[in-house]
Amino acid sequence: MAARRKLIAGNWKMNGLKAEGLQLASDLAGRLQGAGAVPFDMLVCPPFPLLFPVGEAIKGSPLALGGQDCAPKQKGAHTGDTSPAMLKDAGCAYAIVGHSERRQDHAETDAAVAAKAAAAHEEGLVAIVCVGETWAEREAGKAQEVVGRQIAGSLPAGATAANTVVAYEPVWAIGTGKVATPQDVKDMHAFIRKELQARLPDADSVRILYGGSVKPDNAAELLATDNVDGALVGGASLKADDFWAIGTSCR
Ligand code: PGA
Repeated sequence: MAARRKLIAGNWKMNGLKAEGLQLASDLAGRLQGAGAVPFDMLVCPPFPLLFPVGEAIKGSPLALGGQDCAPKQKGAHTGDTSPAMLKDAGCAYAIVGHSERRQDHAETDAAVAAKAAAAHEEGLVAIVCVGETWAEREAGKAQEVVGRQIAGSLPAGATAANTVVAYEPVWAIGTGKVATPQDVKDMHAFIRKELQARLPDADSVRILYGGSVKPDNAAELLATDNVDGALVGGASLKADDFWAIGTSCR
């Protein structure tokens, strides 16, 4: 199996003002720097207004910066949107696209997500493409069908292991404290790997993250599961100790 370095990504969502955001990011950057060689990459995705100050604060450190979303275009008359070029300007290397909260709150379709990922790629950003089923879909036995459809529709042409990360986040596990069982995670990640193999030339090198109520006490088991190449963490990424503990659960 291709060696895939784990990615521990923090999605701060709409949380944090400047002072706390700076403190959190600087704390993590300092720990990473002090730790030397670690078996994971660490990424924080603050709200847009914090990207520039956080980017300045962690510049030169191993802590990576990402946006929580991006527009499908680089500039123009699109009020309220933030382009991949702007993310890059702030120091971002990554952009999350198609998070289920964006899909729900802003009615983002698979095609819209693919366009955002393509725009991120254009600027040299890594797109973290999120997929995941609702509880009703899982109960109806349609989890794989839904995720398969999302993968088919949300990955743009030109996606490779170098520019794309897939995050599997069952919607019912996000922010609820419910976590998919290790077997469900293993099965879904194997299914996603197979779907990627049908589409990408270097599918075995694509990192597939798990997300949904990842905490320090469940991280080690999740991160040791086959085809789990990291975690996308919401709530627990807001506390430096918890997020760091998730990172150091990587073996
Ligand atoms: P959570 O969020 O860790 O708070 O469940 C995960 C996510 O939505 O990325």
